[in-house]
Amino acid sequence: VEALADQVAVVTGATSGIGKAIACGLVGQGAAVGLVGRDQDALEQTARSVRKPAMRVLQYQVDLTLDNEILTLTKRVQQDLGFVDILVHSAGVISLGSMEAASMEDLDWQYKINVRAAYFLTKNLMPMIRSGQGQIVFINSSVSLNARANVGQYAATKHALKAVADSLREEVNPRGLRVMSVFLGRTATPMQAGVHKMERKEYHPERLLQPEDVASVVVHALSLPRSAEVTDIHIRPLATP
Ligand SMILES: NC(=O)c1ccc[n+]([C@@H]2O[C@H](COP(=O)([O-])OP(=O)(O)OC[C@H]3O[C@@H](n4cnc5c(N)ncnc54)[C@H](OP(=O)(O)O)[C@@H]3O)[C@@H](O)[C@H]2O)c1
Repeated sequence: VEALADQVAVVTGATSGIGKAIACGLVGQGAAVGLVGRDQDALEQTARSVRKPAMRVLQYQVDLTLDNEILTLTKRVQQDLGFVDILVHSAGVISLGSMEAASMEDLDWQYKINVRAAYFLTKNLMPMIRSGQGQIVFINSSVSLNARANVGQYAATKHALKAVADSLREEVNPRGLRVMSVFLGRTATPMQAGVHKMERKEYHPERLLQPEDVASVVVHALSLPRSAEVTDIHIRPLATP
């Protein structure tokens, strides 16, 4: 039995890493999925890897730093899908650096994608999210709650994203919508490979959390009966010697 049959999902960051794995997981449980990303080739690759016969998988090429592209996405989702049950925000960017070294441009860039785009897209899609049925997922980070040196800008954006999720939850719970934040430790994705490069550390993806592990937890939480709401999930790699 497919837990999410007849449901419609929109997933940002669907061209890579965690978003791609979640999109695969949602299709696997029977949902129709709108894939959102910037890289057209990667969008097609995700679509090919998730597509099942008779299953709707749509591609939306969107640069989330541009409000007009988010508005166009909203219109296209309305036309193509009509309503949304599950909205997953996985698109995100990171730049490391101390306060003295990091640039204001990098702060604005991270804020724009990690916070503003998720906020604006949710706000726009909200009228299409079905009451008593809808769910919104914000992919967050363990550094949101525990900011270490050189990650201040990114951690600030993820802390803000937690606030957006918590406030939204109180607003939409009365109409039966669930809101979930997922706080992740280091996960084996292209972003994490880049982080290791910036830190000049050797990259051993097999020692990290796997995107498929994250996807299976998220899809399970989304499939729970409506008597339960998972508000926050924390997952980290199991550090073995
Ligand atoms: N990997 C980790 O260790 C880790 C840990 C904690 C939290 N997270 C969070 O998990 C989420 C997913 O990260 P990931 O590790 O899967 O990273 P990833 O592999 O680098 O994927 C990032 C995604 O964001 C999209 N994106 C970036 N800029 C965009 C823009 N301007 N417009 C539209 N889409 C844009 C990318 O799409 P295009 O390439 O098509 O532009 C890509 O699909 C992020 O929110 C990240 O902060 C990751």
